[in-house]
Order: sequence, then C-alpha cells, then structure tokens
Amino acid sequence: MADKARIAVMVSGGGTNLQALIDAQNSGLIEKGEIVLVISNREEAYAAERARKAGIETHVVTRKANGGQEGFEKVCMELIDSRDVDLIVLAGFLTILSKDFVTHYEHRIINIHPALIPSFCGDGFYGIKPHIAALERGVKVTGATVHYVNEIADGGEIIAQKAVNVEEGDTPEILQRRVMEQAEWLILPVAVAKICRRIVKERNGRI
Ligand code: GRF
Repeated sequence: MADKARIAVMVSGGGTNLQALIDAQNSGLIEKGEIVLVISNREEAYAAERARKAGIETHVVTRKANGGQEGFEKVCMELIDSRDVDLIVLAGFLTILSKDFVTHYEHRIINIHPALIPSFCGDGFYGIKPHIAALERGVKVTGATVHYVNEIADGGEIIAQKAVNVEEGDTPEILQRRVMEQAEWLILPVAVAKICRRIVKERNGRI
C-alpha cells in the first residue's frame, strides 16, 4: 500500500524483536509501516519461522551459500531493492555489514542494541555479551538503545533508549530477558512507527 513505508527486517536468532514488530504491526502501533521482507543469515534461526507464520516473504541468505560476505550482501541488496524497501531493521542480527552496504542505505538502517550506548557496545559486544559486561562492571542500571547504523559498530545516531534496573542475583540470562521485556520489545516498535510516519510524510511532501 503506497501510504505505508516498506520494512525489511534482518535476523539471526530467536526473533523476539521481530515478533514485537509483527505484533506492533498487527495492533496498529506501526500504522504507517508494513514488514514486506525478512532475511535471516542462519538457516536454523527461529526468527525465520516466526516470519513465515506471519505470512511475510522470508529468505535465508547465508555467507556460506553465497561465496562469503560480498555475495551475501549482494543477494540481500537485490532482495531489498527489488522489494522497494524504505527502512531496514536489524533485529537480533549478528553479522557486521560492510561500509559499502551501510553507505548504500545511509540513514535507512536501524539496530537494537542491548545496552545503553555508549556503554557496553562496539566490536564484540553482541547478544549476551553486553549483559555479561554490565554485571562484571557492577552497573545498577542498563537497558537498550535503538540507533541508526553507520560504518562504526553501534556508532550511529541514537534514536531511543530505555533504562532497566539490574537486580541482586541477576545472571546474564536473567538480565538479558528483563532488558528484552522491559526495553527492547517496547522501544524498537515505537521507533519504527515514528520513522515510518516520517518516511510517509516526506514521500507525500507534507513536510
Ligand atoms: C537480543 O538481546 C538482542 O538485543 C540481541 O540479540 C538478542 C536476541 O534477539 N541483539 P532476538 O530474540 O533474536 O530478537
């Protein structure tokens, strides 16, 4: 539908952030956006199953099957561009994208990071690792960040953040779950909804 921004979501894992986006689309929270494509870089990612169940065009694109990073990105770009995607969301996506890819989609890729950037971010801080580092440092508050993706890992403009308390006795897994439930799954859909509204307004020349 022309009055909606077209969203592609790139995933690698369980897909709980993707599920939050699907639920937000179905509830009408993401009123001006439509998830038209999901790309998983891992065959076994349950995120791909979630996408298929939601009736979204889903592709598994691996580096192994496409001759490495360059071939992987070429296939992804062909899928993204041929589906007229406006916004790319990295949701639990665990592969670094090249500078060429990121600059090709400048200011059109966003990511959810499971910490309050600039804490516990950058190379090597992905998945459970930011939570391990937060507990090792002894912080009392952590959280999640939605940010634009540029050529620096977790270095792009911050869009939204939400703080989450660290509790006595937290393990990395318990903390990760709390950050997902109380931060990631809330701020990512809201950020996507806001960006889609802007995209549609700009496209309709109402700005
Ligand atoms: C989440 O903590 C996410 O922030 C991180 O990977 C974990 C799993 O994400 N990048 P999901 O369940 O695959 O969305």
